[in-house]
Amino acid sequence: MTSEFPLFLLPMLVLNRILKLMTPFELVAISLCSKKSKMVCKSARSQMECKNGTKEFTLKFSLNKEIRLKFDYHPRLEWVFKLECFPKINNIPPGKNFLQKFKTFFRKKEQASCKAAYTRVTNDLFINTWIPTEDDTTSEHSLQLFTSEEDQWSNTNSFIQHLSDILNVSLWTIELHFQDFIREENERIIDFYYSDHENKTAVKSLTLIGKYWNTPEDDEVVDSILQRQEAKIKLKLIMKPTSEFKFRSEYLRNKLNFLKVQHSHWISFDQLLEIDPFLIILNESTFTKIHLKSLFEKWSSGWTPKWRVSMIKYAETVDIDDCFNELDAMGSFSNIRIHREEETYDGYPIEETKTTRYFLRRADGTIGVLSLEGTSFGTFFIFMEVEENVIVFPHLYQS
Ligand SMILES: *[C@@H]1O[C@H](CO)[C@@H](O)[C@H](O)[C@H]1NC(C)=O
Ligand SMILES: *[C@@H]1O[C@H](CO)[C@@H](O)[C@H](O)[C@H]1NC(C)=O
Ligand SMILES: *[C@@H]1O[C@H](CO)[C@@H](O)[C@H](O)[C@H]1NC(C)=O
Ligand SMILES: *[C@@H]1O[C@H](CO)[C@@H](O)[C@H](O)[C@H]1NC(C)=O
Repeated sequence: MTSEFPLFLLPMLVLNRILKLMTPFELVAISLCSKKSKMVCKSARSQMECKNGTKEFTLKFSLNKEIRLKFDYHPRLEWVFKLECFPKINNIPPGKNFLQKFKTFFRKKEQASCKAAYTRVTNDLFINTWIPTEDDTTSEHSLQLFTSEEDQWSNTNSFIQHLSDILNVSLWTIELHFQDFIREENERIIDFYYSDHENKTAVKSLTLIGKYWNTPEDDEVVDSILQRQEAKIKLKLIMKPTSEFKFRSEYLRNKLNFLKVQHSHWISFDQLLEIDPFLIILNESTFTKIHLKSLFEKWSSGWTPKWRVSMIKYAETVDIDDCFNELDAMGSFSNIRIHREEETYDGYPIEETKTTRYFLRRADGTIGVLSLEGTSFGTFFIFMEVEENVIVFPHLYQS
């Protein structure tokens, strides 16, 4: 901040108003000026109900390391700090002396001879401009931060700590592109972020991304990551294991709110029946009509899953009316109160889709809603609160 404007001499009310108009980057820049500026930014954030306003706080590990933030008062924009190591000279990492030299440059940034005028952000983290790069196609605003190769972990971590402090939100998610790292590096990342340390709490969500189909070695890395991680809120697995990869119950030893598996051929129907995340999305599953029928039948005969919502992309075109009618003919629904609904979205500019829903009220008052959207996307919602059900679905209770 080279401005001479006496920001901190403004009356508090005026200052708070100004801080509210600032972008997250401007706020971070100001918070770094002094202890007092950090305090002021923190209180401005709590007034803005920042805790509820933060929609994403992710540390991305890939060939590029990034801290990604999203706020609901800038709903379409992503604020990204891109972390880079100091340029290597002739591919030889800069030694301590070289770095010292760099640092003396930073302190004399007014010297015109120094092309890259870096300024210190925290410890050994530097920036050369606070003017963000704006990418309209990805709605991304980004700033580049520089650090030394050897201290990048602790420097990144102390910067995350600073963000957590002014936003009053801890780091939520690690997005790990595991194929960009060797097994030991993956394990080190997981062990570090999914355990409590002196200065930070364990991260609660994990997104695992594999760009290419796994090799058998990749499968082993994924197995090791899933056994070590301690995600307790969201687990997203956007990777492509081989056909040999097997589900293990340890992967889900922590109760999750949300599980999404993009290529779910490695999760069997019996495993789906057993697992317990609140909401489950299995895309590209191997499930067929037989399995949809089985869900109808099991619910009607008194089985209740531990999950409350499942969304499944079936491996084939399924006809939910056929499934229902075949079971109905066998008397499967004799003790069930049934309501069928059909809805068509005109879907413009995409093709129109029809959704068919079956509400199945059991004698115990619980309701299961099985539906099919289009030709192969099935959802199953479970409503266990009988008193609420009577209010929300009165037509299923009137005699
Ligand atoms: C944040 O949201 C929760 C739940 O939606 C609510 O109970 C809480 O009062 C909110 N806090 C603030 C500061 O708005
Ligand atoms: C958020 O603020 C409250 C109250 O000051 C504090 O107790 C809590 O530790 C803060 N949380 C984070 C993640 O900074
Ligand atoms: C925790 O923070 C303190 C003060 O910022 C620092 O001295 C200490 O080294 C940190 N510990 C770890 C494990 O990073
Ligand atoms: C499922 O996968 C398809 C194809 O990769 C993708 O277009 C779709 O968005 C995915 N659905 C969900 C719910 O993620």
